[in-house]
Parts: sequence; C-alpha cells; structure tokens
Amino acid sequence: MSTINIAIDGPAGAGKSTIAKMVSAEMGYIYVDTGALYRTIALYLTENNIADEDIEKSLENADVSLRFINGTQRVYLGDRDVSGLIRTPEISMAASRTSAIPAVRTHLFGLQQKIASENNVIMDGRDIGTVVLPNADVKIYLTATAEERANRRYKELSQKPDCPTYDEILKDIIQRDYQDMNRETAPLKQAEDAVLVDSTNLTLEQSAAKITEIIREIIL
Ligand code: DC
Repeated sequence: MSTINIAIDGPAGAGKSTIAKMVSAEMGYIYVDTGALYRTIALYLTENNIADEDIEKSLENADVSLRFINGTQRVYLGDRDVSGLIRTPEISMAASRTSAIPAVRTHLFGLQQKIASENNVIMDGRDIGTVVLPNADVKIYLTATAEERANRRYKELSQKPDCPTYDEILKDIIQRDYQDMNRETAPLKQAEDAVLVDSTNLTLEQSAAKITEIIREIIL
C-alpha cells in the first residue's frame, strides 16, 4: 500500500513545525521534523569534539533514530533521548553549518525516505520537496519575512531569562537563511511544484487552515 507524503519546506521560524503538528493531528498523519536529525548530528559532533576532517568517518558511529511516542516524535542518539538537548541556539547554528556537508545529508537520507515509505507523513525541512521526497503528493513552501520571523521568535523567548535582543535574533535568522539557501548540496529553495504560503500576515491558525485546505484540495 502506498503512503501519503506531504512535504513542508521553508526557512527557520516560518512556523513549519507548529503548523505541521496542527495539520498532522487533524489528518491523523505522523509529523516528522527532519531538522531534529541535523541537530542531533550537530550535537554528536560537538559532544565528541570531532574535527572537520574527521566528520565523514565519524558518522559511522552517529546512530540517529526517531521514535514516535503517542504520535509525538522523539529523537535518539544511540539509546539516549536528546530531543531537549538539541534545542539551543548553539546547536541551531551548528546544525545549519553541518547540514551543508554532503556526507551528513547522505547519512540521514535513507532514514527519512524509509519513514515516509512506511507511514502517512507530513515531513518538514529544507529539501523535502526538492530532494528527499521529490514525488510527494503535496508540497508546500512556507515562508515569512525575516523581520516577522524574528519578531515571533523574540515574543516566544522574551519571558525567558537571558533572552537575546531582537537584533541578535534577526541577525541569526538572516545568517541561517543565507547558509541554508546558499550551500551547494540540497539548498533551501521552493520546489517547482510546491505551493507557496506566505505566513507574514497570517496567524498560526490561519496558516494551518490554509495549508489543510491546500492539502485536502490536492489529495481528496
Ligand atoms: O528546522 P530546524 O531549524 O530545526 O533545522 C536545523 C538546521 O538543519 C537548519 O538550519 C538546516 C538544516 N536542515 C536541513 O539542511 N535540511 C532539512 N531537511 C532540515 C534541516
């Protein structure tokens, strides 16, 4: 039986994960956050102090896997659940850098395709519609201006201690966009057959409703 695959790509902070979670819960699909895989490789390289020239070889020992507990994704490095540890600004930036390494992408490619071939999924990332699932049933490219994405992130973090300033957040977002869009292998870009959704002036609920409508129109 073939599975239904929905790809959502776009830059950091466009709301992909929150929206994909809402839509997948509604449709009864598994939500797969592929950024978590790149973050886990970045954590592995950082924790083990792997030098750049040793990265390719060391990947043999980077045992990254996903488990779905009550429909919620957890990411494992070996038998350690690292889902919380990978959510720091340092790992965000390191993941963006390491994801440019072709051997890292190859290492994670099969895992993503296997999950999509075994489950109905909404998979989010940067190259899902262009590289990982080029035959996805629906492709969405979700974006928003860098300023609006920084604004949302600032609001989310502003209650926490050590919150970075708005300008720092914006600078990080612009740098990550640049790295993700300009790398040679599988750069972030809109697939030719992807539907563009700009969430700059939409609430999360409006974006989720729009994406659900696009999906239903295509697959039902
Ligand atoms: O979605 P995220 O911010 O958690 O992703 C972290 C980094 O991983 C991001 O800067 C680029 C990279 N990434 C990628 O190259 N390809 C994907 N499919 C998902 C993420």
